[in-house]
Amino acid sequence: IDRYCVFGHPVAHSKSPLIHAAFAEQTGESIEYTAIEAPLDDFTGAWRRFTAEGGRGANVTVPFKEEAFRLSDTLSERARRAGAVNTLVLGGNGLTYGDTTDGIGLVRDLERHGVTLAGARILVLGAGGAVRGVLEPLLAAGPGSLFVANRTAEKAARLAADFSDLGEIAGGGFDAVAGPFDLVINGTSASLAGDLPPLPDDLFAPGATAHDMMYGAVPTVFLRWAAERGARTVDGLGMLVEQAAESFFQWRGRRPETAPVLEALRQAL
Ligand code: ATR
Repeated sequence: IDRYCVFGHPVAHSKSPLIHAAFAEQTGESIEYTAIEAPLDDFTGAWRRFTAEGGRGANVTVPFKEEAFRLSDTLSERARRAGAVNTLVLGGNGLTYGDTTDGIGLVRDLERHGVTLAGARILVLGAGGAVRGVLEPLLAAGPGSLFVANRTAEKAARLAADFSDLGEIAGGGFDAVAGPFDLVINGTSASLAGDLPPLPDDLFAPGATAHDMMYGAVPTVFLRWAAERGARTVDGLGMLVEQAAESFFQWRGRRPETAPVLEALRQAL
């Protein structure tokens, strides 16, 4: 049986084992998928041990995505751009291939919700690792414009500069946000603290969508704020399932159906 796992610290809360068990059952792929808490100071050692014991691939979550990037022998273009890896694949040659599926997971989930990215005016909130991880696939979808707004304006400007060869992208502080937007994506960790970035009331164009990378049993403060201003809301649970599906595809060459798995997770929140 081929072994896979998710590495994190902590990792007990991870939904990935549930998701991949459902994918395996659905596709008839015979895999084992567990959660492993790697030591904070030796993620690389944990990956080497895992592969020595028959591990074929892994998901990587907080705080190891950058170390997974550094240990990868080869990288996908989107992972190279992200500077982070959430999917490791052990090649037949013994080399480690690193990919990141967060961004394509976000794009697929938005498409599933009927959001048109081509030509859209997009605002992304935040300029940390989570946002860096999704910019390449977002820009590849051909938005009309993409503005990255961050509490620390300088970080958003630098991030935008790093991706400016891929499309129409600019960055700045929240005070530089000038709507309306067709899509606003919250990639800050502000929701965790129940905080809301300072945003103008006329942020949303008619028919706009608000997406929060976070999810929970109740809508985040950002999604509640957006709903009150007429936006359609999408939380991060679908992105989680879609990124998992893309990882599964990298390992097994099969694309699982995400809708029933998402539905089951939603019920269990
Ligand atoms: P992650 O991996 O989740 O992206 P990170 O790299 O630490 O974590 O980035 C966190 C992001 O959330 C940053 O954009 C941060 O803004 P700063 O760069 O100004 O620190 C943003 N953030 C965190 N708490 C916030 C808050 N209360 N209000 C607004 N933005 C916040």
